[in-house]
Amino acid sequence: MKLDNLKQLYIHELNDLYSAENQILEALPKMVEATDDSRLKNAFMKHLELTKHQVRRLEEIFDQLGEKAESSKCEGMKGIIKEGESFIKKDKSFFRGDIDNDVLDAALIASAQRVEHYEISGYGTARTYAKHLGYTEQASLLQQTLDEESRTDRELTELAESSVNIKAAK
Ligand SMILES: [Fe+2]
Repeated sequence: MKLDNLKQLYIHELNDLYSAENQILEALPKMVEATDDSRLKNAFMKHLELTKHQVRRLEEIFDQLGEKAESSKCEGMKGIIKEGESFIKKDKSFFRGDIDNDVLDAALIASAQRVEHYEISGYGTARTYAKHLGYTEQASLLQQTLDEESRTDRELTELAESSVNIKAAK
């Protein structure tokens, strides 16, 4: 596919997001498993459900465009998730390999927020392209996901500041 206009770049962005969301779908259950903090577990489980809807929204947009999602892998998300998983796997090449459970929770939130910020950036761009290209309905679907990602990000900040970081600081 030649990227010779904004519509092609829009489709490229949508594919990137589609790959990112699918990688998140695989990563979230491991994050749920990795924490003993019930509030954090719930936050990740809630986001897993939201993510399933977000994948469906993207599929609806591909349908509207008469396009098929490509199987290309979003390398940006792959790297962010890999770093997060290095904490869970206690990867000695990434840090010393020992991590306290409460510190792991703080690291999991930091990693989840990196994911959210990547998505906020991608969805913001895609929404703006959709608007410019006159795809009003697609712009509003993308805005819905963007709002969910922003809300998740705020909830994670709240959880970090009100409890997880405090426990990790002890
Ligand atoms: Fe998402």
